[in-house]
Amino acid sequence: MKDIDWDALSFSLTPTDWMYVTEVTGDDAWMPGTLRPYGDFNISPAAGVLNYGQGLFEGMKAYRTAEGRLVFFRPEENARRMQAGADRLKMPPVPESVFIDAVEQVVDANRDWVPPVGKGAMYVRPILFGSGPILGVAPAPSFTFMVYCTPVGPYFKGGMTAIDLLISEEHHRAAPGGSGGVKAIGNYAPGMLPSKAAKAEGFAEVIYLDAQTHSCIEEVGAANFFCVKDGVLSTPSLTGTILPGITRASVIELARSRGYDVREERVAVEAALDADEAFCCGTAAVISPIGSITHMDTRHVFSNGQPGPVTLELYDALTAIQAERAPDTFGWLHEVPSLR
Ligand code: PLP
Ligand code: COI
Repeated sequence: MKDIDWDALSFSLTPTDWMYVTEVTGDDAWMPGTLRPYGDFNISPAAGVLNYGQGLFEGMKAYRTAEGRLVFFRPEENARRMQAGADRLKMPPVPESVFIDAVEQVVDANRDWVPPVGKGAMYVRPILFGSGPILGVAPAPSFTFMVYCTPVGPYFKGGMTAIDLLISEEHHRAAPGGSGGVKAIGNYAPGMLPSKAAKAEGFAEVIYLDAQTHSCIEEVGAANFFCVKDGVLSTPSLTGTILPGITRASVIELARSRGYDVREERVAVEAALDADEAFCCGTAAVISPIGSITHMDTRHVFSNGQPGPVTLELYDALTAIQAERAPDTFGWLHEVPSLR
């Protein structure tokens, strides 16, 4: 294992040794790629991704477990989501077999960089983009699929400390018919302005409301939203403007298996603010308790600003499965094979 201060890991880039690359032209079939030393690469100034944002990314994690294994969490779901995104952005979808082989190769080759059990995870970034040159607004003539990875710690400072969020009054993340339901790279830059402004005021992130009525909660920055009232969980339904989070789907399944009623529905701001607990979830965020939500200058505090009991129960249950401290009853883990 690398000589790193694992306790000091945050959600930031630590370059590793190897990355994976494969390319395709036009409608040709994707072929498995190869590993290369991690580093910069050449790209045409006229690349579709640089000029028109024809690109997607995925975010997934591999963990060391209490059983001494190295496992991915539901990587097939990331492969499928990237395929849906490729359809939406007119790129050739990467077959699931190529995607899985790519992430396996990258994590296996960078094994020494995976944090010890309980000290974080290996964050894996598959990216797919129009790399060929094109001047008119149209799909690029060729595409690149790359995967790199980096060891990470908690996404929000303080780990399980409840975070303070601000409802964005001026900005929306996605509009009906747009690209909010896929992990398009272009969905993220517009969020930097509201997010930076909120952080300057001491908030951890913004909450976006729906663009049509500005009355219902959609997402928390780059994570999905849940709230709990009288033991019933509620999360915004997947209307096309919300990213179908893999953690969100897992939380729903996990909570239902533990006897909770979970509703996918429109979550009005008033109902959310009236909840007993709230949390957000995602690959990077895992399950992060929400301590307060500020809406139009009024601060609503949940469970005295502490993580709520249901939030803690689900966090413990999810992270126990990921670390193999509990049985993988849902079949969510996928071992990283030793390939070299
Ligand atoms: N919402 C957005 C906008 C995201 O970027 C992410 C991160 O991938 C999520 C939600 C959570 O999705 P997942 O749980 O698949 O990481
Ligand atoms: C993730 O949770 O994987 C994300 O993509 C969130 C963010 C870092 C963009």
